Amino acid sequence: MTKLEIKNLHVEIEGKKILKGINLTISSPEVHAIMGPNGSGKSTLANVIMGHPRYEVTKGEILFNDKSILDLEPDERAKLGLFLSFQYPMEVEGLPFNTFLQEANKSLHPKTEQTLMEFKKLIKEKSKELGLKEDLPQRDLNVGFSGGEKKRAEILQMLTLKSKMAILDETDSGLDIDSLKFVSDAVNSVRGGEFGALVITHYVRILNHLKPDFVHVLVDGKIVASGDKKLADELDEKGYVKFLAEQGIEIKNEELL
Ligand SMILES: Nc1ncnc2c1ncn2[C@@H]1O[C@H](COP(=O)(O)OP(=O)(O)O)[C@@H](O)[C@H]1O
Ligand SMILES: [Mg+2]
Repeated sequence: MTKLEIKNLHVEIEGKKILKGINLTISSPEVHAIMGPNGSGKSTLANVIMGHPRYEVTKGEILFNDKSILDLEPDERAKLGLFLSFQYPMEVEGLPFNTFLQEANKSLHPKTEQTLMEFKKLIKEKSKELGLKEDLPQRDLNVGFSGGEKKRAEILQMLTLKSKMAILDETDSGLDIDSLKFVSDAVNSVRGGEFGALVITHYVRILNHLKPDFVHVLVDGKIVASGDKKLADELDEKGYVKFLAEQGIEIKNEELL
């Protein structure tokens, strides 16, 4: 089993309090979804789990399989099986996507018996499953990829690097209906056993495919409601107004909802 536990997590950026006491436990094979308005701290949570140096944990704990990971570097966290699909994937000129995947795989799984040929075959198979063009892995990482290709390229990493606990930060944003289906099917295909995931999203549509076990609402750095898929449907229908009002937050811009 893979277990990610977040206990009373408080996080600041440049002295500004962003997360204000998050408690969340994800045990494989569960898939949890977090929904919340813009600026509520969703990406902060994703980034801090992965160890982004900009965020300061001022209180609380993050445990992976019962051990604190707060002192670990991002690559050390990745070696445990943690994976983050970025909301805004970075373009890296001069680094072919194939090479990136091969080097990451060597680093994450140094004792693998998988040959390079087998790994390349896996990249090809999974690219096809995700509806990605065959030559895409030969191009520089994310350079000139469309928005949807970037998001699917993140999932290609998750699949080929055999991540165990994946955090998907708005992977569905910018995907057309077909791509959304490719991505959902790909995530569903690795569900079960030691794989668990935290899916961050604004929209219920990816959750219709993924059918998460739990849904949480994040408002102003706090989880203000938890439930099952029905909670997501309720949010889809009524928006975050009720939850924002309960937190005493005035709605100034309808677009935020
Ligand atoms: N580098 C930063 N400096 C100051 N504030 C930041 C920084 N990055 C994010 N924030 C603020 O933190 C809050 C949460 O941001 P974020 O986690 O990206 O929210 P979400 O992903 O839910 O939209 C926002 O108010 C945002 O402006
Ligand atoms: Mg975000």
